[in-house]
Amino acid sequence: MPWDELKAKRWPAFDKELDGISKQTMEDHFKLYEGYAKKANQCRGILKDFDYGEIEGNQVYSELRATAVDYTFALLGFKNHDLYFGHLGGQGGDASGRFAELIDAEYPGGLDMWQKSIRKSASSARGWVMVGYDLNDGSIFNYIMDTQNLWAVYNMVPVLALDVYEHAYARDFGATPDGRKEYVEAFFRNLDWDHVNRQLAQAEAAREGAQRVGAEEQVPTA
Ligand SMILES: [Fe+2]
Repeated sequence: MPWDELKAKRWPAFDKELDGISKQTMEDHFKLYEGYAKKANQCRGILKDFDYGEIEGNQVYSELRATAVDYTFALLGFKNHDLYFGHLGGQGGDASGRFAELIDAEYPGGLDMWQKSIRKSASSARGWVMVGYDLNDGSIFNYIMDTQNLWAVYNMVPVLALDVYEHAYARDFGATPDGRKEYVEAFFRNLDWDHVNRQLAQAEAAREGAQRVGAEEQVPTA
């Protein structure tokens, strides 16, 4: 368990004037992000210290079960916000670069279809919409997540994280479906597509690396 201490970062977005998303929302939101880092660290500490020879294993309730399950809530609360704040503070506009290229190839209706899809996904999710790149087949999809640790799939690398919990928009736009829609538009006006494309480049490199290693392992040796 070589776990490092997680720490919430003061991403550049916190020092910028965002279009539509207030400083107060950002600061309140930072406290949540900090809280997730703290709780994930606390869970790691508990999980390291358990005496696994003695501890009760019980599927209804056990300290191990409670800590391990809630650890994923805390850890993904940290990770999701890390990406969310990391890619705010940009110039917005339409999707660009490799991301736009992949989306255009992936969706039968191209970029226009994706732009409509992510907006409707944002109205359909209770917590997050995560645009993720699949390391197995290189596909990209808008995953609807009702909490930060629900319904993401294995080997999906998040490249764009849209927080639609009410805390992200209620102060600035009102806690209504229309308020959420206005917030989603503000989110896209402030998105840094270069950050999204850097995430995607890392994911594509990881997939290429894994395929290369896989191919080498299958070459018969003399
Ligand atoms: Fe959030």
